[in-house]
Amino acid sequence: MRAWVNGRLLDDPGAPAIQVSDHGLTVGDGVFEAVKVVDNRPFALTLHLERLARSAAGLGLPGVDEGLVRKGVEAVLGGGGLRLGRLRITYTGGPAPLGSGRGDEPPTLVVVAAPMDPAAPTARVAVVPWPRNERGALAGLKTTSYAENVIALAEARRRGATEAVFANLAGHLCEGTGTNVFYVVDGELRTPTLASGCLAGVTRRLVLEWVGGREVDEPIEVLQQATEIFLASTTRDVQGVARWDNRDLEAPGPVTADALSTWRSREHELMGV
Ligand SMILES: Cc1ncc(COP(=O)(O)O)c(C=O)c1O
Repeated sequence: MRAWVNGRLLDDPGAPAIQVSDHGLTVGDGVFEAVKVVDNRPFALTLHLERLARSAAGLGLPGVDEGLVRKGVEAVLGGGGLRLGRLRITYTGGPAPLGSGRGDEPPTLVVVAAPMDPAAPTARVAVVPWPRNERGALAGLKTTSYAENVIALAEARRRGATEAVFANLAGHLCEGTGTNVFYVVDGELRTPTLASGCLAGVTRRLVLEWVGGREVDEPIEVLQQATEIFLASTTRDVQGVARWDNRDLEAPGPVTADALSTWRSREHELMGV
């Protein structure tokens, strides 16, 4: 692992480097991105930086210095040799008083690069009982307030699954803890709209552009009729779902296999871009 904090590459990436009063740590006042790295090159970095800026604006954080983030990315990838990995870019409210109010100090910017294992070929999904709040102040923002995802994923693992999926307050399909969901009903590829409260996933956007699919919000029960389901995310790319709660599915089915092969043939376009 290599870590860069506020302009400085750490000699020891495990050494303490953030103040104990950092608002990201004390109240989850921060935003982040996870970016795939292949052969030491970040995938779709520009799209991720655009979303980081949108998330920061959504929290009312000062504008992100994109040039500085890119310097951090260069610094942590400077060692070379990361065949498959993940960049984590975190931007927080910085040191602050111990309550919810922000302080006057500059934000904290952290970039970390670490190796990553390839994703499993298929996923098992558990639908969890807690709703995503599509009307909440954080809807659609990639913030460091992710503890709901921690609880949901722990529950999914307890049930033998590898990802947890949420409905929203309307009872419509929303997203997973770190994934967007695509499914096939009546031969049509579908995914929830951004109004469902799901994150505007970079992978979701590219699947819609490269493969197609209809954005629609429907009750989560519709997934019981799906002939195929797949997850889309930075760490999984396109990953077929072999089990949805208690139902087994063909994975990858023909639509998923087609999406995966399109993904593999086009992802080079955004390597290092
Ligand atoms: C809540 C949530 N939804 C969806 C995604 C998928 O987004 P992306 O394809 O940009 O990784 C992520 C992961 O980053 C996420 O955290």
